[in-house]
Amino acid sequence: MIDQNMKQAVLDSFEKVFGSKDGVKAYFAPGRVNLIGEHTDYNGGHVFPCALTIGTYAAVKKRDDNNIQFYSVNQEKFGVYGTTLDEELKPSDKAGWTNYPIGVVWAFAKRGMKLDKGFDMVIYGNIPNGSGLSSSASLEVLTGFILRDLYGFDVTNQDIALIGQYSENNFNGCNCGIMDQFASAMGKENNAIFLDTADLSYEYAPISLKGAKIVIANTNKKHKLTDSQYNARRSMCEEALAILQKKLDIKALGDLSIEEFEANKDLLTDPDMQKKAKHAVYENQRTIEAVKALKDGDLEHFGKLMRQSHESLRDDYDVTGVELDTLAEEAWKVPGVIGSRMTGGGFGGCTVSIVKDEAIENFKKVVGENYKNKIGYDCTFYTVEIGNGPEVI
Ligand code: GLA
Repeated sequence: MIDQNMKQAVLDSFEKVFGSKDGVKAYFAPGRVNLIGEHTDYNGGHVFPCALTIGTYAAVKKRDDNNIQFYSVNQEKFGVYGTTLDEELKPSDKAGWTNYPIGVVWAFAKRGMKLDKGFDMVIYGNIPNGSGLSSSASLEVLTGFILRDLYGFDVTNQDIALIGQYSENNFNGCNCGIMDQFASAMGKENNAIFLDTADLSYEYAPISLKGAKIVIANTNKKHKLTDSQYNARRSMCEEALAILQKKLDIKALGDLSIEEFEANKDLLTDPDMQKKAKHAVYENQRTIEAVKALKDGDLEHFGKLMRQSHESLRDDYDVTGVELDTLAEEAWKVPGVIGSRMTGGGFGGCTVSIVKDEAIENFKKVVGENYKNKIGYDCTFYTVEIGNGPEVI
């Protein structure tokens, strides 16, 4: 669902900043929320995210020279930032948020898709910054989608997701998996995406919550993955895999059933590493089970698995923190809450909850008050809808 006010605002801003609206095209790419399957995507496991109707808008026009210039309505003080395609593109502190779109231009070039001319781009996002709803992936997918549209590159939406991930890994220094970019690039209204990250096979699963809604609660504690321990968790999983591979013929932790893991876990003599690997294996199996529960119409069971997912991320994977734990644990106590858990990378950001329609007001009131009492500042709630992938608007 395109927000016409956002579209108008990004076009108006383009005119103000770059002088004219003639020949400018407008685009949108969504953020995402992950329903279950956390920290499994770099372990060859399953994830179950969906694209949101909030995301990033852009107004763009090709230039006659080799400059690329950027402006964000969300960061007016940062002003216009530009660089040239004549020199090798490199990440830099002074480039700020523009490192994301510049990284995507760089990643296209790495694959032999060089721009014949530059462009001007204005963006405007309505994903709360740092909320863990993938504002950066939406910007990467948006940029890739725009490059295909303006320069005619022969790439699929799935390629755009992979190029976005490549740029995030190699230009922006976060070793993220494929989930966020895939969810943004492949989103489908009212459907979540059951993705096997081992081979990128996927299926859409209709989400009909019959009398319930998806409610997101933001801790308002900003998380930044590159600053967090995300890369450290990933390395530890890779070490665990290497140890298990000495005995087992597996490509990823996601290849293991719970029984196989339990029978071999003592090979991981570092107790902390064993806990991290346990999460990766159990969470993957939980995700498969959760999607089956949803297909069987057993929302109660889906909700129980959401809770187990959070507990595992708290106790074994250690990526929650007091803010996310407070939101989830307070939610579990409220009647009418089917399930609640942290979503995304963790260390701040948001929880996702499935709440019965008639319980939503009370949920916001009780969880909001208890959060403020314990943490000292407010959390924010959003009732979200599941939207489509990127589009020209
Ligand atoms: C971040 C990463 C994803 C994924 C999640 C955790 O959102 O970008 O690739 O690993 O964390 O599930």
